Amino acid sequence: MEKELTYGATSRINHWVIAIAMMGMLGFGLYLEFGGLAREAKGPLIGIHKAIGVLILIFGLWRVTWRLLKGFPAPASNMPAWQDMASKFAHWMLLAGVVVMPVSGLVGSLFGGRAVSVFGLFTLPAQAKIEWLQSFSGGVHGLFGKALAVIVVIHFAAALKHHFIDKDATLSRMLRSTSKGDRATKG
Ligand code: HEM
Ligand code: HEM
Repeated sequence: MEKELTYGATSRINHWVIAIAMMGMLGFGLYLEFGGLAREAKGPLIGIHKAIGVLILIFGLWRVTWRLLKGFPAPASNMPAWQDMASKFAHWMLLAGVVVMPVSGLVGSLFGGRAVSVFGLFTLPAQAKIEWLQSFSGGVHGLFGKALAVIVVIHFAAALKHHFIDKDATLSRMLRSTSKGDRATKG
C-alpha cells in the first residue's frame, strides 16, 4: 500500500474520532476509579464503560491497521533529536493504547467470569475464571490507562507548542488538507 506523505482525510477522521473516544474513556475510567461513586451508581456506569470500550476496539483495530499500512508521515518540521524520539515513542504508545486498553478491559472482565453486553446489540460470553489472568489484565488496564493519560496531556501540549510557538504545520495538517509549510509534501 502507498505510504502517506501527510495525513489524508481518512487518517484525520480516524485520529479525531479515536482521540475524542479515548480521552472520554480515560476520563470515564479514572472517574469510576477515583470518583468516590456509591456501589449502586457505579455498576451501571461500568456496564456503559465496557460497552463503549468494545465499540472503540472495533473501530480502533481499523484505525491502527490503517496507520501500520500507511506508515507515519515524516515530521512537519525539523526538531531536535530528543523531540523526534519522544514524539515517535508517544505516537506508538498512543496507538498501542487503542488496542491494549479495550483488550485488557475485556480479558479482565470475561476471564473474571463476567459477560460483556454491548448495549444489547451483542454479548461477549463470560469465560471460566482464571484468577491470575484477571488480575494481570486489571493491572495492565490501570497502569497503561494512567500512563496514557499522562502521554495524552504531553501530546496535547506538544501540538499546541508546535502550533503557537514553533508556528509549524504539525497541528494544521492534522486538522485540514494542507501542504503549507509541510516539508513532507515538498519531498
Ligand atoms: C477504550 C478503551 C478503554 C479505556 C481508555 C479505558 C480506561 C480505563 C481507565 C483509565 C480506568 C481506571 C483504571 C485505574 O485507574 O485503575 C478504567 C477502569 C475500568 N475499566 Fe476501562 N477502559 C477502556 C475499555 C474497557 C473495556 C472494554 C472494559 C471491559 C470490557 C473495561 C473495564 C474496566 C473496568 C471493570 C474498570 C474498573 C472500574 C472500577 O471498578 O473502578 N474498560 N478503564
Ligand atoms: C486534543 C487532543 C489531541 C491533539 C490536539 C492531537 C494532535 C495531534 C497532532 C497534531 C498529530 C500529528 C503529529 C505529527 O504529525 O507529528 C497527532 C498525531 C497522533 N495522535 Fe494525536 N492529538 C490529540 C489526542 C490524541 C489522543 C487522545 C490519541 C490517542 C489515541 C492520539 C493519537 C495520536 C497518534 C497515534 C498520532 C500519530 C499519527 C496517527 O496515527 O494519527 N492523539 N495528534
